[in-house]
Amino acid sequence: MNQPRQFYVVGAGGHAKVTSSVITSLGHQVAAALDDDLAKNGGELAGVRIVAPCDELRNMKPRPTIIGIGSNQLRQITAGRFDVEWGIAVHPSAILDPSVTIGRGSVVMAGAIIQAGTRIGEHCVINTGATVDHDCRVDDFCHVAPGVNLAGHCELEQGVFVGIGACAIPSVRIGAWATVGAGAAVVHDLPSGVVATGIPARPR
Ligand SMILES: CC(C)(COP(=O)(O)OP(=O)(O)OC[C@H]1O[C@@H](n2cnc3c(N)ncnc32)[C@H](O)[C@@H]1OP(=O)(O)O)[C@@H](O)C(=O)NCCC(=O)NCCS
Repeated sequence: MNQPRQFYVVGAGGHAKVTSSVITSLGHQVAAALDDDLAKNGGELAGVRIVAPCDELRNMKPRPTIIGIGSNQLRQITAGRFDVEWGIAVHPSAILDPSVTIGRGSVVMAGAIIQAGTRIGEHCVINTGATVDHDCRVDDFCHVAPGVNLAGHCELEQGVFVGIGACAIPSVRIGAWATVGAGAAVVHDLPSGVVATGIPARPR
């Protein structure tokens, strides 16, 4: 196990709770959760003190920080607000080939599997039980929701959200900031910015 470290998590909702759980499962601690909702100031997230607003981060002792916000757009905006050390957290039950690369700020949740040659960008979420097969490229600020299966050589451009239980056949490219609906099957490339649902997934 790595030396225990203290992290901050930005966000104090459900996604932040799961992100904190990944951090503690690694033997680390969450020193504080930060949120812009002033009503949460002084409260607790899974036993962790909530500090509001997030700008307080600038006055706090520097620590590795992870953005625990599920929205890709909000994660991108939040990442741009702070110049801090962005941490990486990979749950101990996740299986990653040693050749996999993970960018700063990214989190891999429990039970996820990432296969050989795949590159995960910065501030991404590979959520519970998702599988990302060999040689995929997942660019910055993507969120691969629980139970998603991506076949080999898929490309997710920046900010793509793949909804719970969706899948993609080999070598499809999903354009930047596209949303793939829950349960969809992506069998053709998707353009940037679309919301695509169904089997096969089609832009609405
Ligand atoms: C695709 C999605 C983004 C659309 O959201 P939305 O624009 O708010 O859509 P609405 O809920 O207003 O639904 C609009 C219509 O699309 C249908 N629809 C919604 N999601 C759908 C999906 N995934 N597949 C097929 N049809 C879907 C609804 O039934 C509704 O149809 P109707 O008008 O005939 O009743 C959303 O439904 C979705 O799938 N999100 C994934 C969420 C997720 O995976 N979260 C994981 C968090 S970790």
